[in-house]
Amino acid sequence: MKEAEEHYPFLMACRRQPTRYTPIWLMRQAGRYMKEYRTLRKKFSFLEMCKNPELSAKVTLFPIEKLKLDAAIIFSDILLPLEPMGVELEFTRNEGPVLRNPIREIRQIDGLQIIEPEEDLPFLMEAIRIVRKELEGRIPLIGFSGAPFTLASYIIEGGHSTNYVLTKGLMYKDRSAWDRLMEKISEVLVRHLTAQIRSGVQALQLFDSWVGCLSPNDYEEYVFPYSKKVIEGVGKSVPMVHFATSSSALLERMKLAGGDVIGVDWRVNLGEAWTRLGYDVAIQGNLDPVVLLGKPDLIEKEVKRILSEAGGHPGHIFNLGHGILPNTPVENVAFLIETVHQYSSKPDRKGGKG
Ligand code: CP3
Repeated sequence: MKEAEEHYPFLMACRRQPTRYTPIWLMRQAGRYMKEYRTLRKKFSFLEMCKNPELSAKVTLFPIEKLKLDAAIIFSDILLPLEPMGVELEFTRNEGPVLRNPIREIRQIDGLQIIEPEEDLPFLMEAIRIVRKELEGRIPLIGFSGAPFTLASYIIEGGHSTNYVLTKGLMYKDRSAWDRLMEKISEVLVRHLTAQIRSGVQALQLFDSWVGCLSPNDYEEYVFPYSKKVIEGVGKSVPMVHFATSSSALLERMKLAGGDVIGVDWRVNLGEAWTRLGYDVAIQGNLDPVVLLGKPDLIEKEVKRILSEAGGHPGHIFNLGHGILPNTPVENVAFLIETVHQYSSKPDRKGGKG
């Protein structure tokens, strides 16, 4: 059923308006825990799926057809804009993403291209248009990008890292190279995110997945100005979720950098995080994805705890603290969504069916 855009519980919660129930969506909701995804993935590589708008739209909608989610997130990856910037990207079975020509010198940074998203990532923009059409206004669609630090870490390390030694090395040893790289990434991200808005996304999430490896001082000095620049550059036309993991020490600074919603993981109590942030910003989170591997009574207990930490304040979006794990049983995900809706239900209110 079509719902007026201003009454989508997810978008209302982003604006901190009271909703009839707490909206929920899950990071990596379109992924390997779904049989439909694994079947399609046998025929196509991950990048082939991302670069084919029909397939990308189809995968985006897999979890929507099966589960009562309150938002869809476009199927893509934070690393895709790096290819047109000039970084060779590969997804390997065991190592995850691998960048064949990591960038570690100023000469290489100067060679990175500023992208034209509509020309360089046309498949993503087309996938967004298809999904909007297929959703027929049932739930809103979220677009996303990595945040400057998290993308810089991939560009410099060439893949996932444990201690971010090369990234921090560049940051500490060559300030001007670091600033040049972060400037370039920020410019690309403003373009990338505004192009997604033009194509039809109704909210955005900025993933600063790995920024929790920094001290608060380093965040403030080397990262904050760029995250702020991206969020301000994108503007206020759609709500923005600003997410990071292991970010407990950075929350207040992340809020200052911007975002209508701050996304937190399970390493911080949601109630404590929200008290520190203040109720003039919305919050998203924060179930440990591993709980979904447990029994229904554990899931129920954790849902009740997190909802009670949110204390009924308007502006809580339920989510996991990080992406859903590949071996998660789909029936547990369905149970989670039902439980969140049920325990948070306030039938006398507007905003969703309750
Ligand atoms: O959330 C969604 O369902 C939308 C799609 C989405 C993917 N990646 C699909 C994906 C989103 C929003 C992302 C974001 C992303 N990608 C992040 C930020 C969020 C986070 O997890 O911290 C990061 C760091 C990446 C980079 C990335 N992509 C990694 C580290 C990996 C390998 C790890 C893994 O889970 O396999 C990927 C691959 C990837 N991105 C897959 C999916 C569904 C698995 C690909 C496969 O089928 O093999």
